Amino acid sequence: MLKRNKYCGHISEEDLEKEVVLNGWVHRVRNHGGVIFLDLRDREGVVQCVVEEKENPEIFELADSLRSEYVVALKGRVRRRPPGTENPKLKTGDYEVVIQELEILNTCETLPFPVDEETHLSEETKLRYRYLDLRRQSMKENLLFRHRAYQITRRVFLEEGFVEVETPFLTKSTPEGARDFLVPSRLHPGKFYALPQSPQLFKQILMVAGFDRYFQIVKCLRDEDLRADRQPEFTQIDFEMSFVDEEDVMSFSEKLIATLFRELLGVELKTPFERLSYREAMERYGSDKPDRRFGLELIELTDIFKNTQFKVFRQAVESGGVVKAINFKGSNLSRKEIDQLTQFVQSIGAKGLAWIKVEDGKLNSPILKFFSDEETQALLQRVKAQSGDVVFFSADKKEMVYKILGNLRLHIGKEYNLIDSSRFDVLWVVDFPLLEWDEEEKRFVALHHPFTSPKAEDVHLLTKALETEHLEDRKSLVHSVRARAYDLVINGYEVGGGSIRIHRKELQELVFRLLEIPEVEAKEKFGFLLEAFKYGAPPHGGLAFGFDRLIAIMRGLDSIRDVIAFPKTQKGICPLTGAPDFVEPRQLKELHIKLVE
Ligand code: AMO
Ligand code: AMP
Repeated sequence: MLKRNKYCGHISEEDLEKEVVLNGWVHRVRNHGGVIFLDLRDREGVVQCVVEEKENPEIFELADSLRSEYVVALKGRVRRRPPGTENPKLKTGDYEVVIQELEILNTCETLPFPVDEETHLSEETKLRYRYLDLRRQSMKENLLFRHRAYQITRRVFLEEGFVEVETPFLTKSTPEGARDFLVPSRLHPGKFYALPQSPQLFKQILMVAGFDRYFQIVKCLRDEDLRADRQPEFTQIDFEMSFVDEEDVMSFSEKLIATLFRELLGVELKTPFERLSYREAMERYGSDKPDRRFGLELIELTDIFKNTQFKVFRQAVESGGVVKAINFKGSNLSRKEIDQLTQFVQSIGAKGLAWIKVEDGKLNSPILKFFSDEETQALLQRVKAQSGDVVFFSADKKEMVYKILGNLRLHIGKEYNLIDSSRFDVLWVVDFPLLEWDEEEKRFVALHHPFTSPKAEDVHLLTKALETEHLEDRKSLVHSVRARAYDLVINGYEVGGGSIRIHRKELQELVFRLLEIPEVEAKEKFGFLLEAFKYGAPPHGGLAFGFDRLIAIMRGLDSIRDVIAFPKTQKGICPLTGAPDFVEPRQLKELHIKLVE
């Protein structure tokens, strides 16, 4: 076999008049009567190769039998393409290789879809023939970009003295809040391993062990409902540091992210990244991961409608809720468009969507008749109403209003192209509440995980809450306790999150008491961590980035599936291998498992 001495995509000026040997796939082949043009492709790109019948009849005949995606080896001389025939779209477009020797290494059956163009394919087809899909230029570039990102990431961790340690996959449940994937034990009937939702507990134990700075690029497994930005197995850039506070973790994170953007995209991010408190993010954007590349901020109106006659608003305010609005300025929406947006919010649980349209100084709205003159005036002033504006209202419990207007804001931003996609909006969201009330479970739950430390100045509120009998008072005390947690948000996606952990027993016990995790349960679930903490745990904290999300955002892609070599479909299926699948009865028996019909 002719062995490669050059990649197709690397042919350049320095190869002119030299002999090269190329190995690759037939990207395209065209017989122009007497001359055959063969575009040969390998990992690095495509180069045009030619053979003329009159100069080399034998090779010409062989080349004429080539079809798409045949595998070939060839030897040839590089020359400049004749003037006027250059292809500026191709990196190697100024050159061509005159074929002198040609070997067909393998043939290829008729393809299920063309590889040489970017046709739209169903997810199922794409993933079933992933090896063909990955031959396509855009997909290949995504994975090569990801490859470079791993290398830069590792380098930055090394520069900062981090140690790479692997943590187990067959383990006990980790408290990240999703459902666990379980693995039955053959040796221990009835017992199960859990696959890790993250290395959280192990990385904290590595801090107790004195490793000081740990990192790992690691698969995490969570049995959740899937979305475009969620996979059952995904990759984290995970790290933990000892003897640090949040400033250390955040400034290291900024160094890593800024280096990746600089070296991979040539984009200079301004550091330190901006910070927004959780509360401000919710109040202004209705989301704890705001996309600030466009306006349409939420406007507070509750005070204006305190004593309104409009039943819908009054009931909301009386039962402790809020009234908020967004003003879609200059949109001149038609009635039909307003109805479509109403349907959208109803699909996510809104009871309705009141609106006012401002037209040439006149107001058009089904609810205006319920407002007093003062209310109307105050409202118009607050939302800065001008001709062409359409104002949408939501009145409900605070969380519901955030959800509705936050989603409506994003929906409008996308539908009406308000988002400046040329820019990256990078920010930290900080000052999260430590705990939130879970209405279903009727108890407090940790917003991040139960080892997240509260702010020192808020700890007294926790103690006070424990002494408070009345539930509503207790809730309001607990909700004002802020966590030492931080999330990195880029373009409206949560790209990373972490916290400073609790490292002292007394504080951990206090938090467990508020979480109503009984001592036995705490021991059963995280006993090994709590025990480790007895033996000199240093102050520590860390963070994990969602690597797939980060790469997808940097590449401007909507789905993380496009940056994962072998992802699952929306239904958690791998069409390439057919997983998940049934197994032999013998295997089940060994695992002491009986299926319920
Ligand atoms: P968290 O649960 O926030 O934190 O996860 C960190 C980041 O991982 C990404 N991510 C996902 N990406 C794709 N598919 C999923 N199903 C998925 N779930 C999460 C997100 C998220 O920001 N142990 C803590 C980190 C710490 O406290 O140090 C943790 O796992 O981008
Ligand atoms: P109704 O009196 O129920 O017909 O509602 C009058 C208007 O208020 C309609 O335009 C509804 O879409 C809207 N509406 C109803 N409930 C809400 C709500 N919770 N928030 C905002 N608007 C609402």
